[in-house]
Amino acid sequence: MKDIAKRFEELFGRAPEIVTAAPGRVNLIGEHIDYSEGFVLPFAISDTTLVALARRSDRLIRIASVQKSAEVVEIALDDLALHVGENWARYALGVLWVLGVDTGVELLVDGRVPLGAGLSSSAALECSIATAVNHLFQKGLSLAELARATQKAENDYVGVPCGIMDQSVSLMARSGSALLLDCRDLTTENIPFLIAPQGLELLIIDTQAHHKLVDGGYAQRRASCEKAVADLGITSLRDISVAEYAARQSELDPTTYIRGFHAVTEMKRVLDAVDALRSNNFSKLGELLNQSHRSLRDDYAVSCPELNLAVDTSNAQGALGSRMVGGGFGGSAIALMKTDQVKRTKEAVSKAFSSAGFKAPRFFTSLPSAGAHVISS
Ligand code: GLA
Repeated sequence: MKDIAKRFEELFGRAPEIVTAAPGRVNLIGEHIDYSEGFVLPFAISDTTLVALARRSDRLIRIASVQKSAEVVEIALDDLALHVGENWARYALGVLWVLGVDTGVELLVDGRVPLGAGLSSSAALECSIATAVNHLFQKGLSLAELARATQKAENDYVGVPCGIMDQSVSLMARSGSALLLDCRDLTTENIPFLIAPQGLELLIIDTQAHHKLVDGGYAQRRASCEKAVADLGITSLRDISVAEYAARQSELDPTTYIRGFHAVTEMKRVLDAVDALRSNNFSKLGELLNQSHRSLRDDYAVSCPELNLAVDTSNAQGALGSRMVGGGFGGSAIALMKTDQVKRTKEAVSKAFSSAGFKAPRFFTSLPSAGAHVISS
């Protein structure tokens, strides 16, 4: 694969001033609770999005992506607030808009996080650009500030109502660890996640499914959690125990109750998963993954037949546990299993997908990797 600095030079006729990388993620556990101020436990995967950037002496912004045939999109810096461009360009421009650049720039993206697999290629793109801008323009922003800024870019510029998890882990992850992130104040703790010495592997199964509900369904789930908070008169679902929540069921309509029930139980499962990891209790971790999946499938209703088949087939092959990850309605599932079960699980999942008439799934594995960083400047 060609070096991004070389490609930048071919495209823009000079060397970049900075090259950065930021990873995609999988979430071990803690799904759909980042926007309810919960704890989540994602880790960064080894696939990253590379960005090469250089300032211009005028006020023109020129951006291109290797994955879009390096076709250059141009916009005047003073027109940034107009929210123009096709989708991928809006993610990039949104970050320039939110962080503010005082000169034009040339920017090339090489996104190596699998697209559309629910592995947060968009957060990787945003965070790689944010890292480059923060360094080159000497913004001096902390990782938490960059996470909030990139989330704002996605919410307000692109128009996707995502939470804070994906950007935070893409910026803050450490290799060898999952990131215990407190989504209320963005404080973190690195929880070692070294499964290879235990003879275990985390298989990532990209179902290649993308159901239409993705956008509307996500916003509806968020709205249900906000309604539960408002109807119960509490500050956040974070502030109520499972027992107390259950005791107040009659105060909520059935749909609001069951959505919030997922959130409060998932919050507890994250803390239990941290305990399990700290005591190397991987069968307990597997059980928590299964519970999380059932809760997302039955209570939160964000799974889909492809995700359920990936999970059920992995478990039938002897996985310790398996669940859907990310926003749902498609994307990827993870399955924790003994290394020697990986091959036959892949075969079994592929066969089950083919018999069900689903698209062929893709498989990945990844060790927990480092967050966004400068490669050269
Ligand atoms: C998407 C969002 C995240 C988070 C997950 C679900 O990935 O971008 O903020 O809400 O869904 O956990």
